[in-house]
Amino acid sequence: MIAVIGLGYVGLTTALGFSEKGFKVYGIDNNKEKLNSIIANKIPFFEKGLPEILNKKLNKKFFVKNSLSECVDDIEVIFVCVETPVDDTGKANLTYLQAALKSVLSVIKPKDKKLIVIKSTVPPSTTTKKIIPFIKRLGFKAGYDVHIAYNPEFLREGTALEDFIKPDRIIAGVNDEYSKQVLNKIFKPFKAPVYFVSLNTSEFVKYLSNSFLATLLSYSNEMSMIADSIGNIDIKSAFKLFHEDKRWFGKPASMQGYAYPCCGFGGSCLPKDIKSLINKSSEFGYNAKILKDVIDINEEIKVFWINKITKNLRKDTKIAVLGLSFKPDTEDVRDTPSSAIIKMLIKKGYKNITAYDPLSNKLFDKVYNVPVKYASSMKGAVSKSDVIILATAWQEFLDNKDLLSKKIVFDLRYKL
Ligand SMILES: NC(=O)c1ccc[n+]([C@@H]2O[C@H](COP(=O)([O-])OP(=O)(O)OC[C@H]3O[C@@H](n4cnc5c(N)ncnc54)[C@H](O)[C@@H]3O)[C@@H](O)[C@H]2O)c1
Repeated sequence: MIAVIGLGYVGLTTALGFSEKGFKVYGIDNNKEKLNSIIANKIPFFEKGLPEILNKKLNKKFFVKNSLSECVDDIEVIFVCVETPVDDTGKANLTYLQAALKSVLSVIKPKDKKLIVIKSTVPPSTTTKKIIPFIKRLGFKAGYDVHIAYNPEFLREGTALEDFIKPDRIIAGVNDEYSKQVLNKIFKPFKAPVYFVSLNTSEFVKYLSNSFLATLLSYSNEMSMIADSIGNIDIKSAFKLFHEDKRWFGKPASMQGYAYPCCGFGGSCLPKDIKSLINKSSEFGYNAKILKDVIDINEEIKVFWINKITKNLRKDTKIAVLGLSFKPDTEDVRDTPSSAIIKMLIKKGYKNITAYDPLSNKLFDKVYNVPVKYASSMKGAVSKSDVIILATAWQEFLDNKDLLSKKIVFDLRYKL
Protein backbone atom coordinates (compact mmCIF):
# COMPACT_ATOMS: atom_id res chain seq x y z
CA MET A 1 0.00 0.00 0.00
CA ILE A 2 1.34 3.35 -1.12
CA ALA A 3 0.88 7.00 -0.19
CA VAL A 4 1.88 9.84 -2.47
CA ILE A 5 2.55 13.28 -1.03
CA GLY A 6 2.14 16.11 -3.56
CA LEU A 7 -0.38 15.56 -6.36
CA GLY A 8 1.10 17.67 -9.15
CA TYR A 9 2.20 16.33 -12.53
CA VAL A 10 4.57 13.80 -11.02
CA GLY A 11 2.63 12.89 -7.88
CA LEU A 12 -0.77 12.40 -9.46
CA THR A 13 0.74 10.42 -12.33
CA THR A 14 2.62 8.29 -9.81
CA ALA A 15 -0.47 7.74 -7.66
CA LEU A 16 -2.76 6.87 -10.56
CA GLY A 17 -0.02 4.87 -12.27
CA PHE A 18 0.45 2.67 -9.21
CA SER A 19 -3.32 2.30 -8.81
CA GLU A 20 -3.52 1.21 -12.45
CA LYS A 21 -0.92 -1.43 -11.63
CA GLY A 22 -3.22 -2.79 -8.93
CA PHE A 23 -1.90 -1.08 -5.79
CA LYS A 24 -4.07 0.65 -3.24
CA VAL A 25 -2.87 4.25 -3.23
CA TYR A 26 -3.56 7.25 -1.01
CA GLY A 27 -2.95 10.74 -2.39
CA ILE A 28 -2.26 13.78 -0.22
CA ASP A 29 -1.74 17.42 -1.16
CA ASN A 30 -1.79 20.57 0.94
CA ASN A 31 -3.41 22.60 -1.82
CA LYS A 32 -7.10 22.36 -0.95
CA GLU A 33 -8.30 23.58 -4.33
CA LYS A 34 -6.30 20.85 -6.07
CA LEU A 35 -7.47 18.25 -3.61
CA ASN A 36 -11.13 19.20 -4.00
CA SER A 37 -10.83 19.03 -7.75
CA ILE A 38 -9.41 15.49 -7.56
CA ILE A 39 -12.07 14.44 -5.05
CA ALA A 40 -14.64 15.76 -7.56
CA ASN A 41 -13.10 13.43 -10.18
CA LYS A 42 -11.40 16.25 -12.11
CA ILE A 43 -7.67 16.37 -12.87
CA PRO A 44 -6.56 19.90 -11.92
CA PHE A 45 -4.31 20.24 -14.98
CA PHE A 46 -4.33 18.87 -18.50
CA GLU A 47 -2.53 15.55 -18.92
CA LYS A 48 -3.58 12.91 -21.41
CA GLY A 49 -4.93 9.65 -19.98
CA LEU A 50 -5.14 10.76 -16.35
CA PRO A 51 -8.88 11.67 -16.36
CA GLU A 52 -9.84 8.16 -17.49
CA ILE A 53 -7.75 6.46 -14.80
CA LEU A 54 -8.97 8.83 -12.10
CA ASN A 55 -12.54 8.07 -13.10
CA LYS A 56 -11.84 4.34 -12.97
CA LYS A 57 -9.80 4.24 -9.74
CA LEU A 58 -11.17 7.03 -7.53
CA ASN A 59 -12.42 5.56 -4.24
CA LYS A 60 -11.73 2.04 -5.53
CA LYS A 61 -7.94 1.86 -5.67
CA PHE A 62 -7.08 5.55 -5.29
CA PHE A 63 -8.17 7.50 -2.22
CA VAL A 64 -7.63 11.18 -1.59
CA LYS A 65 -6.82 12.22 1.98
CA ASN A 66 -6.29 15.55 3.73
CA SER A 67 -3.43 14.21 5.75
CA LEU A 68 -1.20 11.16 5.99
CA SER A 69 -2.48 10.59 9.54
CA GLU A 70 -5.78 9.37 8.02
CA CYS A 71 -4.12 6.42 6.26
CA VAL A 72 -0.72 5.94 7.89
CA ASP A 73 -1.51 2.55 9.43
CA ASP A 74 -2.48 1.21 6.04
CA ILE A 75 0.69 2.07 4.13
CA GLU A 76 4.15 0.68 3.63
CA VAL A 77 5.72 3.15 1.20
CA ILE A 78 5.43 6.94 0.96
CA PHE A 79 6.42 8.66 -2.29
CA VAL A 80 7.27 12.34 -1.90
CA CYS A 81 6.63 14.31 -5.11
CA VAL A 82 6.53 17.95 -4.02
CA GLU A 83 8.10 20.82 -5.96
CA THR A 84 11.80 21.70 -5.64
CA PRO A 85 12.19 25.13 -7.28
CA VAL A 86 15.49 27.00 -7.49
CA ASP A 87 16.30 30.56 -6.43
CA ASP A 88 18.01 33.15 -8.65
CA THR A 89 21.42 31.65 -7.92
CA GLY A 90 20.26 28.17 -8.92
CA LYS A 91 20.22 26.90 -5.34
CA ALA A 92 17.54 24.25 -4.86
CA ASN A 93 14.82 25.34 -2.47
CA LEU A 94 14.22 22.32 -0.26
CA THR A 95 11.66 23.92 2.02
CA TYR A 96 8.67 22.16 0.37
CA LEU A 97 10.46 18.83 0.55
CA GLN A 98 11.48 19.36 4.16
CA ALA A 99 7.96 20.48 5.11
CA ALA A 100 6.52 17.37 3.47
CA LEU A 101 9.03 15.10 5.22
CA LYS A 102 8.35 16.82 8.52
CA SER A 103 4.63 16.17 8.12
CA VAL A 104 5.33 12.51 7.30
CA LEU A 105 7.60 12.06 10.31
CA SER A 106 5.08 13.74 12.59
CA VAL A 107 2.63 10.88 12.00
CA ILE A 108 4.90 7.84 11.78
CA LYS A 109 6.72 6.23 14.66
CA PRO A 110 10.32 4.96 14.57
CA LYS A 111 9.12 1.40 15.17
CA ASP A 112 6.91 1.57 12.03
CA LYS A 113 9.99 1.40 9.74
CA LYS A 114 8.19 2.95 6.77
CA LEU A 115 9.96 3.44 3.47
CA ILE A 116 10.04 7.04 2.23
CA VAL A 117 10.88 7.36 -1.46
CA ILE A 118 11.81 10.82 -2.69
CA LYS A 119 10.78 11.43 -6.30
CA SER A 120 11.19 15.21 -6.38
CA THR A 121 14.25 16.19 -8.39
CA VAL A 122 17.06 17.16 -6.02
CA PRO A 123 20.72 17.97 -6.82
CA PRO A 124 23.13 15.04 -6.33
CA SER A 125 24.18 14.60 -2.68
CA THR A 126 20.98 16.19 -1.33
CA THR A 127 19.55 13.01 0.18
CA THR A 128 22.75 12.05 2.00
CA LYS A 129 23.98 15.52 2.94
CA LYS A 130 20.70 17.36 3.57
CA ILE A 131 17.73 15.02 3.87
CA ILE A 132 19.14 12.25 6.07
CA PRO A 133 20.66 14.78 8.53
CA PHE A 134 17.33 16.69 8.49
CA ILE A 135 15.47 13.50 9.35
CA LYS A 136 17.99 12.78 12.09
CA ARG A 137 17.34 16.17 13.66
CA LEU A 138 13.67 15.15 13.80
CA GLY A 139 14.60 12.06 15.80
CA PHE A 140 14.70 9.37 13.06
CA LYS A 141 17.76 7.37 12.09
CA ALA A 142 17.68 6.54 8.36
CA GLY A 143 18.05 2.82 7.69
CA TYR A 144 16.76 1.93 11.18
CA ASP A 145 13.70 3.94 12.22
CA VAL A 146 12.76 4.89 8.70
CA HIS A 147 14.08 3.82 5.29
CA ILE A 148 14.98 6.41 2.69
CA ALA A 149 15.28 5.82 -1.05
CA TYR A 150 15.51 8.06 -4.08
CA ASN A 151 13.68 7.25 -7.30
CA PRO A 152 14.22 9.79 -10.11
CA GLU A 153 11.24 10.41 -12.39
CA PHE A 154 11.78 10.74 -16.13
CA LEU A 155 8.21 11.35 -17.27
CA ARG A 156 7.53 14.00 -19.88
CA GLU A 157 4.45 16.18 -19.57
CA GLY A 158 2.10 15.34 -22.42
CA THR A 159 3.00 11.64 -22.24
CA ALA A 160 3.38 11.45 -18.46
CA LEU A 161 1.16 8.46 -17.87
CA GLU A 162 2.65 6.33 -20.61
CA ASP A 163 6.19 7.24 -19.54
CA PHE A 164 5.36 6.26 -15.98
CA ILE A 165 3.53 3.03 -16.79
CA LYS A 166 6.04 1.86 -19.40
CA PRO A 167 9.46 3.06 -18.21
CA ASP A 168 12.67 2.13 -20.11
CA ARG A 169 14.27 1.41 -16.79
CA ILE A 170 13.67 2.16 -13.14
CA ILE A 171 16.46 3.62 -11.05
CA ALA A 172 16.48 3.51 -7.28
CA GLY A 173 19.05 4.96 -4.92
CA VAL A 174 19.09 2.89 -1.75
CA ASN A 175 21.19 2.53 1.36
CA ASP A 176 19.82 -0.70 2.76
CA GLU A 177 18.56 -4.14 1.84
CA TYR A 178 15.01 -3.60 3.17
CA SER A 179 14.40 -0.63 0.80
CA LYS A 180 15.62 -2.79 -2.08
CA GLN A 181 13.22 -5.61 -1.20
CA VAL A 182 10.18 -3.34 -0.92
CA LEU A 183 11.00 -1.46 -4.11
CA ASN A 184 11.59 -4.70 -6.03
CA LYS A 185 8.12 -5.75 -4.96
CA ILE A 186 6.33 -2.56 -5.97
CA PHE A 187 8.20 -2.13 -9.23
CA LYS A 188 7.66 -5.73 -10.33
CA PRO A 189 4.40 -5.08 -12.25
CA PHE A 190 6.19 -2.50 -14.41
CA LYS A 191 8.18 -5.26 -16.12
CA ALA A 192 11.18 -2.96 -16.61
CA PRO A 193 14.77 -3.46 -15.47
CA VAL A 194 15.26 -2.05 -11.97
CA TYR A 195 18.74 -0.74 -11.16
CA PHE A 196 19.79 -0.19 -7.56
CA VAL A 197 22.56 2.35 -7.16
CA SER A 198 23.87 4.72 -4.50
CA LEU A 199 21.69 7.67 -3.50
CA ASN A 200 24.08 10.15 -5.15
CA THR A 201 24.12 8.14 -8.39
CA SER A 202 20.34 7.95 -8.56
CA GLU A 203 20.03 11.71 -8.11
CA PHE A 204 22.80 12.33 -10.63
CA VAL A 205 21.23 10.24 -13.43
CA LYS A 206 18.29 12.61 -13.61
CA TYR A 207 20.64 15.58 -14.14
CA LEU A 208 22.71 13.61 -16.61
CA SER A 209 19.57 13.24 -18.64
CA ASN A 210 18.18 16.76 -18.37
CA SER A 211 21.57 18.44 -18.87
CA PHE A 212 22.10 16.44 -22.03
CA LEU A 213 18.69 17.35 -23.41
CA ALA A 214 19.21 21.02 -22.62
CA THR A 215 22.68 20.91 -24.16
CA LEU A 216 21.30 19.36 -27.34
CA LEU A 217 18.73 22.14 -27.56
CA SER A 218 21.22 24.95 -26.94
CA TYR A 219 23.66 23.34 -29.36
CA SER A 220 20.93 23.25 -32.01
CA ASN A 221 19.96 26.82 -31.25
CA GLU A 222 23.53 28.08 -31.45
CA MET A 223 23.93 26.27 -34.78
CA SER A 224 20.72 27.88 -36.05
CA MET A 225 22.07 31.33 -35.12
CA ILE A 226 25.41 30.62 -36.82
CA ALA A 227 23.55 29.40 -39.92
CA ASP A 228 21.36 32.48 -39.92
CA SER A 229 24.35 34.82 -39.63
CA ILE A 230 26.16 33.09 -42.53
CA GLY A 231 22.98 33.22 -44.58
CA ASN A 232 21.51 31.19 -47.43
CA ILE A 233 21.27 28.11 -45.23
CA ASP A 234 17.94 26.30 -45.03
CA ILE A 235 17.98 25.61 -41.30
CA LYS A 236 15.02 23.26 -41.37
CA SER A 237 16.48 21.11 -44.16
CA ALA A 238 19.93 21.12 -42.58
CA PHE A 239 18.57 19.70 -39.34
CA LYS A 240 16.37 17.17 -41.12
CA LEU A 241 19.46 15.94 -42.97
CA PHE A 242 21.43 15.85 -39.73
CA HIS A 243 18.72 13.58 -38.32
CA GLU A 244 19.24 11.08 -41.10
CA ASP A 245 22.51 9.98 -39.50
CA LYS A 246 21.60 6.55 -38.18
CA ARG A 247 24.56 6.39 -35.76
CA TRP A 248 22.70 8.74 -33.45
CA PHE A 249 19.03 8.51 -33.77
CA GLY A 250 17.61 5.33 -35.23
CA LYS A 251 13.84 4.97 -35.27
CA PRO A 252 11.54 5.82 -33.55
CA ALA A 253 13.56 8.86 -32.77
CA SER A 254 12.15 11.07 -30.05
CA MET A 255 15.64 12.43 -29.35
CA GLN A 256 15.41 14.31 -32.64
CA GLY A 257 13.05 16.72 -30.95
CA TYR A 258 15.90 17.85 -28.75
CA ALA A 259 18.54 18.04 -31.48
CA TYR A 260 16.43 20.63 -33.24
CA PRO A 261 16.37 24.41 -32.97
CA CYS A 262 13.56 26.43 -31.43
CA CYS A 263 13.16 29.54 -29.29
CA GLY A 264 14.62 28.07 -26.12
CA PHE A 265 13.72 25.37 -23.67
CA GLY A 266 11.30 25.96 -20.81
CA GLY A 267 8.98 24.07 -18.51
CA SER A 268 9.37 23.09 -14.92
CA CYS A 269 12.50 20.96 -15.29
CA LEU A 270 15.23 21.86 -17.77
CA PRO A 271 15.92 25.52 -16.82
CA LYS A 272 15.69 24.80 -13.12
CA ASP A 273 17.66 21.57 -13.12
CA ILE A 274 20.57 22.93 -15.16
CA LYS A 275 20.87 26.01 -12.93
CA SER A 276 20.68 23.81 -9.90
CA LEU A 277 23.47 21.51 -11.13
CA ILE A 278 25.72 24.49 -11.96
CA ASN A 279 25.12 25.78 -8.45
CA LYS A 280 25.74 22.40 -6.84
CA SER A 281 28.93 21.72 -8.78
CA SER A 282 30.33 25.15 -7.83
CA GLU A 283 29.53 24.36 -4.21
CA PHE A 284 31.80 21.33 -4.68
CA GLY A 285 34.54 23.43 -6.33
CA TYR A 286 33.83 22.62 -10.00
CA ASN A 287 33.08 25.47 -12.36
CA ALA A 288 30.62 24.11 -14.96
CA LYS A 289 31.30 25.66 -18.34
CA ILE A 290 29.19 23.88 -20.96
CA LEU A 291 26.12 24.12 -18.73
CA LYS A 292 26.57 27.87 -18.14
CA ASP A 293 26.74 28.35 -21.89
CA VAL A 294 23.65 26.19 -22.27
CA ILE A 295 21.75 28.60 -20.03
CA ASP A 296 23.23 31.70 -21.71
CA ILE A 297 22.31 30.43 -25.18
CA ASN A 298 18.81 29.70 -23.92
CA GLU A 299 18.46 33.43 -23.18
CA GLU A 300 20.31 34.54 -26.31
CA ILE A 301 18.05 32.57 -28.66
CA LYS A 302 15.02 34.57 -27.50
CA VAL A 303 16.82 37.87 -28.08
CA PHE A 304 17.88 36.55 -31.48
CA TRP A 305 14.24 35.88 -32.42
CA ILE A 306 13.01 39.21 -31.09
CA ASN A 307 15.64 41.08 -33.12
CA LYS A 308 14.66 39.12 -36.19
CA ILE A 309 10.91 39.67 -35.69
CA THR A 310 11.09 43.37 -34.86
CA LYS A 311 13.60 44.37 -37.55
CA ASN A 312 11.72 46.95 -39.67
CA LEU A 313 8.47 46.17 -37.82
CA ARG A 314 6.23 49.16 -37.01
CA LYS A 315 5.19 49.45 -33.38
CA ASP A 316 1.50 49.41 -34.30
CA THR A 317 1.75 46.09 -36.14
CA LYS A 318 -0.84 43.57 -35.11
CA ILE A 319 0.97 40.48 -33.86
CA ALA A 320 -0.40 37.04 -33.02
CA VAL A 321 1.52 34.70 -30.77
CA LEU A 322 0.44 31.11 -31.35
CA GLY A 323 1.23 28.82 -28.46
CA LEU A 324 1.73 29.74 -24.81
CA SER A 325 2.52 26.43 -23.12
CA PHE A 326 6.21 25.47 -23.07
CA LYS A 327 5.52 22.59 -25.45
CA PRO A 328 2.50 21.04 -27.17
CA ASP A 329 0.06 18.69 -25.41
CA THR A 330 0.45 20.31 -22.01
CA GLU A 331 -1.07 23.41 -20.48
CA ASP A 332 2.04 23.99 -18.36
CA VAL A 333 3.34 27.54 -18.78
CA ARG A 334 6.15 27.42 -16.24
CA ASP A 335 9.23 29.16 -17.71
CA THR A 336 7.61 29.03 -21.14
CA PRO A 337 9.59 30.80 -23.90
CA SER A 338 6.34 32.46 -25.05
CA SER A 339 6.29 34.57 -21.89
CA ALA A 340 9.81 35.90 -22.57
CA ILE A 341 8.94 36.57 -26.23
CA ILE A 342 5.75 38.44 -25.32
CA LYS A 343 7.41 40.43 -22.53
CA MET A 344 10.25 41.49 -24.84
CA LEU A 345 7.79 42.57 -27.52
CA ILE A 346 5.87 44.64 -24.98
CA LYS A 347 9.10 46.17 -23.69
CA LYS A 348 9.97 47.21 -27.23
CA GLY A 349 6.64 49.05 -27.48
CA TYR A 350 4.43 46.56 -29.35
CA LYS A 351 0.92 46.89 -27.98
CA ASN A 352 -1.30 45.03 -30.45
CA ILE A 353 -0.57 41.48 -29.40
CA THR A 354 -3.14 38.69 -29.55
CA ALA A 355 -2.23 35.35 -28.01
CA TYR A 356 -3.80 31.98 -28.53
CA ASP A 357 -3.11 28.55 -27.10
CA PRO A 358 -5.41 25.53 -27.43
CA LEU A 359 -5.23 24.97 -23.66
CA SER A 360 -3.27 27.61 -21.78
CA ASN A 361 -4.86 31.03 -22.41
CA LYS A 362 -6.40 31.24 -18.93
CA LEU A 363 -3.42 29.85 -17.04
CA PHE A 364 -0.95 32.03 -18.94
CA ASP A 365 -3.04 35.11 -18.19
CA LYS A 366 -3.20 34.18 -14.50
CA VAL A 367 0.53 33.47 -14.19
CA TYR A 368 1.99 36.28 -16.32
CA ASN A 369 -0.74 38.94 -16.35
CA VAL A 370 0.68 40.66 -19.45
CA PRO A 371 -1.30 43.25 -21.45
CA VAL A 372 -2.26 41.10 -24.44
CA LYS A 373 -5.62 40.05 -25.86
CA TYR A 374 -6.52 36.38 -25.96
CA ALA A 375 -8.24 34.78 -28.92
CA SER A 376 -10.46 31.75 -28.54
CA SER A 377 -9.24 30.12 -31.75
CA MET A 378 -6.25 30.06 -34.04
CA LYS A 379 -8.40 31.57 -36.78
CA GLY A 380 -9.49 34.38 -34.45
CA ALA A 381 -5.89 35.21 -33.52
CA VAL A 382 -4.56 35.01 -37.05
CA SER A 383 -7.36 36.90 -38.80
CA LYS A 384 -6.80 39.95 -36.59
CA SER A 385 -3.02 40.02 -37.13
CA ASP A 386 -0.42 40.83 -39.77
CA VAL A 387 2.53 39.07 -38.18
CA ILE A 388 2.28 35.59 -36.75
CA ILE A 389 4.75 34.13 -34.29
CA LEU A 390 4.53 30.37 -33.94
CA ALA A 391 5.95 29.90 -30.44
CA THR A 392 4.67 26.40 -29.58
CA ALA A 393 4.25 23.73 -32.24
CA TRP A 394 0.76 22.48 -31.41
CA GLN A 395 -0.50 20.05 -34.05
CA GLU A 396 -3.55 22.29 -34.49
CA PHE A 397 -1.28 25.03 -35.88
CA LEU A 398 0.55 22.66 -38.21
CA ASP A 399 -2.74 21.19 -39.45
CA ASN A 400 -4.12 24.65 -40.24
CA LYS A 401 -1.08 26.30 -41.73
CA ASP A 402 -3.15 27.37 -44.75
CA LEU A 403 -4.59 30.04 -42.42
CA LEU A 404 -1.14 31.59 -42.35
CA SER A 405 -0.61 31.76 -46.10
CA LYS A 406 -1.11 35.51 -46.51
CA LYS A 407 0.71 36.51 -43.34
CA ILE A 408 4.25 37.28 -42.32
CA VAL A 409 5.13 34.21 -40.25
CA PHE A 410 7.99 33.64 -37.84
CA ASP A 411 8.20 29.93 -37.17
CA LEU A 412 10.15 29.79 -33.92
CA ARG A 413 9.94 25.99 -33.96
CA TYR A 414 10.96 25.31 -37.58
CA LYS A 415 7.88 23.13 -37.97
CA LEU A 416 5.78 24.80 -40.68
N1 LIG B 1 6.73 18.08 -14.18
C1 LIG B 1 7.60 17.25 -14.73
O1 LIG B 1 7.57 16.98 -15.94
C2 LIG B 1 8.64 16.55 -13.87
C3 LIG B 1 9.30 15.41 -14.38
C4 LIG B 1 10.22 14.76 -13.57
C5 LIG B 1 10.52 15.26 -12.30
N2 LIG B 1 9.88 16.38 -11.85
C6 LIG B 1 10.19 16.84 -10.48
O2 LIG B 1 9.16 16.35 -9.62
C7 LIG B 1 8.85 17.31 -8.59
C8 LIG B 1 7.39 17.71 -8.66
O3 LIG B 1 7.15 18.32 -9.93
P1 LIG B 1 5.67 18.66 -10.42
O4 LIG B 1 5.79 19.23 -11.79
O5 LIG B 1 4.78 17.50 -10.17
O6 LIG B 1 5.31 19.84 -9.38
P2 LIG B 1 3.87 20.47 -9.07
O7 LIG B 1 4.16 21.85 -8.60
O8 LIG B 1 2.97 20.24 -10.25
O9 LIG B 1 3.31 19.57 -7.87
C9 LIG B 1 3.80 19.60 -6.58
C10 LIG B 1 2.63 19.39 -5.64
O10 LIG B 1 3.11 19.20 -4.30
C11 LIG B 1 2.18 19.83 -3.41
N3 LIG B 1 2.84 20.08 -2.14
C12 LIG B 1 3.85 20.93 -1.84
N4 LIG B 1 4.20 20.83 -0.56
C13 LIG B 1 3.40 19.89 -0.02
C14 LIG B 1 3.27 19.33 1.29
N5 LIG B 1 4.04 19.72 2.29
N6 LIG B 1 2.32 18.39 1.51
C15 LIG B 1 1.51 17.97 0.51
N7 LIG B 1 1.59 18.48 -0.74
C16 LIG B 1 2.52 19.40 -1.01
C17 LIG B 1 1.77 21.10 -4.15
O11 LIG B 1 0.56 21.63 -3.67
C18 LIG B 1 1.66 20.57 -5.59
O12 LIG B 1 0.35 20.12 -5.87
C19 LIG B 1 9.83 18.48 -8.81
O13 LIG B 1 10.97 18.25 -8.03
C20 LIG B 1 10.19 18.35 -10.30
O14 LIG B 1 11.46 18.90 -10.57
C21 LIG B 1 8.93 17.02 -12.59
